[in-house]
Amino acid sequence: MAAIPYEASTTLADLIPLAAPCLEGRAWDYIRECLDSNWVSSAGPYVSRFERMVADYLGVPYAVATVNGTAALHIALLVAGVQPDEEVLVSTLTFIASANAVRYVGAWPIFIDADPQYWQMDPEAVVCFLQRECQWRNGALYNRHTRRRVKAILPVHILGHPVHLEPILQLARKYDLLVIEDAAEALGAFYKECPVGCLGDIACFSFNGNKIITCGGGGMLVTRRADWAERARYLTTQAKDDPVEYIHCHLGYNYRLTNLQAALGCAQMEKLDEFVQRKRQLARYYSEHLADLPGLVLPAEAPWAKSTYWLYTILFQDKNCISQSREVMRWLRQQGIECRPLWQPLHRSPVYSQLPRRICPVADRLYQQALSLPSSVGLTCEQQERVIHALKTWRSSSNAAA
Ligand SMILES: Cc1ncc(COP(=O)(O)O)c(C=O)c1O
Repeated sequence: MAAIPYEASTTLADLIPLAAPCLEGRAWDYIRECLDSNWVSSAGPYVSRFERMVADYLGVPYAVATVNGTAALHIALLVAGVQPDEEVLVSTLTFIASANAVRYVGAWPIFIDADPQYWQMDPEAVVCFLQRECQWRNGALYNRHTRRRVKAILPVHILGHPVHLEPILQLARKYDLLVIEDAAEALGAFYKECPVGCLGDIACFSFNGNKIITCGGGGMLVTRRADWAERARYLTTQAKDDPVEYIHCHLGYNYRLTNLQAALGCAQMEKLDEFVQRKRQLARYYSEHLADLPGLVLPAEAPWAKSTYWLYTILFQDKNCISQSREVMRWLRQQGIECRPLWQPLHRSPVYSQLPRRICPVADRLYQQALSLPSSVGLTCEQQERVIHALKTWRSSSNAAA
């Protein structure tokens, strides 16, 4: 599909990006050290340093860096032992990588609706599926319709806000399911007192350029299990079975992060708390200044959550909300303001059309209504004012036309 063009008069300097990286701090020093020492590839001290920094931040003993977040999810599913033709419950309202990783191991996603208040995987919908659509047989849980074994839950913390994990963890214990957290969008967020990523059996992060911290590209999986971490390290480095000879007993992957990328990751980790604070300030400012615009729903923070507001996302509530949210998207883009819709819910995705149909009305509605606004850590006051002003101008012109 062609990208929606920006107005020809918009120069790159005028453009307000959606989520640009903020490369402050010691990035140059660390990267120069890599260049000066010739350690630029997948060996070198920064990879383990970056892993240690993330693990310590989360309070989890083991972290394994990967080439991106999708690779982290793939390896997490493998080390957790998810087998071909098993099933994994996945948030339907997420970026497609969460479900694709399930398919990479030959398992099948079961799409779970979002909750209407905070837009995350809905624990009630998980209960409904487990109680009504599954049965316990020979010490394991099976989907009544597909007859496949249900092995894991993969909640995705979308847009920087945590999933309500406690009920999901309780259900996982009750039904003997693994919990694999997709925390790609939520580094720095907290669920109650716990950093997101430390409660499940294993969790994955992304350091893509649009995330709260970046390595250019990169990912990481974290776990409390030494054997899983060791296996992940083995699988991400081509599963080499001899320190010298090239002997391989298992199928491995070239998924390691480079020292150069990790050097940037270390510099970014040093700024994480500051970045979270800045994103929360931006969110507060948007919320204060958009509160009086009729027809908008602003993002809410659950009482058990500390959100990073990775992408500040609003909903349009009027009738024809899909045409309205897309009309505003076009209008903002014409003003040189980058914004984007939420992902098509995965139960609607053509790539998953062969799966049994699932009904997820909340995700369907959110997809139609939502629009994410510029949320870069480096967004200036003037830029944020421009976004707010553009939304107000659109609102008053649409009111006048009505
Ligand atoms: C929820 C979610 N999961 C997984 C990924 C995949 O991460 P990566 O792009 O680093 O492969 C992303 C984003 O990029 C994401 O937003």
